[in-house]
Amino acid sequence: MSTVYLQHFGLQRAPFSITPNPAFFYGGHSRADMLDAMLYAVTQGEGIIKVTGEVGSGKTMLCRMLAGRLPPRIDAIYLVNPRLDPDGVLFAIAAELGLDAAGRRADEVLRLLNGELIARHARGRQVVLLVEEAQAMPLDTLEAVRLLTNLETSSHKLLQIVLFGQPELDEHLALPAMRQLSERITHSFFVPPLPRELVPAFLLCRLRAAGYTGGALFSNAAVRRIARASGGIIRRINIIADKAMMAAFAEDAVAVRDRHVRLAVAECRFAAPAGRRPAWLAASVAAAGAAALLLWLAWPLRAHADSLPPIPAPAWANGHDAQTQLMFDAICKMIIAFTANQHHSAHNE
Ligand SMILES: Nc1ncnc2c1ncn2[C@@H]1O[C@H](COP(=O)(O)OP(=O)(O)O)[C@@H](O)[C@H]1O
Ligand SMILES: [Mg+2]
Repeated sequence: MSTVYLQHFGLQRAPFSITPNPAFFYGGHSRADMLDAMLYAVTQGEGIIKVTGEVGSGKTMLCRMLAGRLPPRIDAIYLVNPRLDPDGVLFAIAAELGLDAAGRRADEVLRLLNGELIARHARGRQVVLLVEEAQAMPLDTLEAVRLLTNLETSSHKLLQIVLFGQPELDEHLALPAMRQLSERITHSFFVPPLPRELVPAFLLCRLRAAGYTGGALFSNAAVRRIARASGGIIRRINIIADKAMMAAFAEDAVAVRDRHVRLAVAECRFAAPAGRRPAWLAASVAAAGAAALLLWLAWPLRAHADSLPPIPAPAWANGHDAQTQLMFDAICKMIIAFTANQHHSAHNE
């Protein structure tokens, strides 16, 4: 990020970088409470904790905050590569604990792990394993992770586990084969998208953390559009806000206006969250189907079709204007091409 850009807005560092940096943590919309509850659950040292949320909702940020706030007697270790096989997980954990497991068999590594955890426990230390992207973990690997919670002294579990994952993790845990694991989960947290009304506070929090001391940098209309286009997903808010600030900077504007956000949004291609296609998309398809029928019936008028004005997106699509209009246009064009083709073949028969 150029210093000219930062100076232009009176910033010391980039406010909307997408790396989850704890210095930029926003605790609104239950996130600070969730963090406290997670800390409490970890220090209790029983069972498995689960944290789910959409891509970009802030799970890794919470994971880093949690690791940073653990009392000094708790050691955090990470499992960041979920695509390991059951033995691979043992080796990865051994490496995190600083053990040399090279050339050993899996059962030997397990014994080493056990010994190390008992030794740490004897020194008054507790170990928490933070598992990221747990939805991508093979089921037998998840089961191997669960088995590690069986390592215990007569009075204490030796390893505390926190699973972070996308909502698909819940689907995996609902499978009969995963019953033992799901029954071990003592605390579940869901990281929700930010509601629209908190987006201004979120933006300001990040700007302040970046050294901004001025007044409202984003206009009300700009904030509304960011809230709408991001669906409250924090990573999307950051990406759009960053691009919009770039657009404002390019114009030498001191405030970010709606048109800057519109440009930013047009540059972003966000997929709908898995399995949750928005209702307006289904409605677009239905409306396009109706348009096809009309076009078919009105085909004799096609000579005039080229002179028709662009087809406006329907009123229910308000709030998704640029993207919806593009999609709507594309669907209509496809249908026009399709019906033209049908007529063409019909005439040739
Ligand atoms: N509570 C928060 N406060 C400030 N920024 C956040 C917060 N949660 C997430 N972010 C930002 O959103 C982006 C995505 O967060 P991340 O934790 O990586 O999401 P996930 O792990 O759920 O995919 C990062 O840029 C991060 O800095
Ligand atoms: Mg993450």
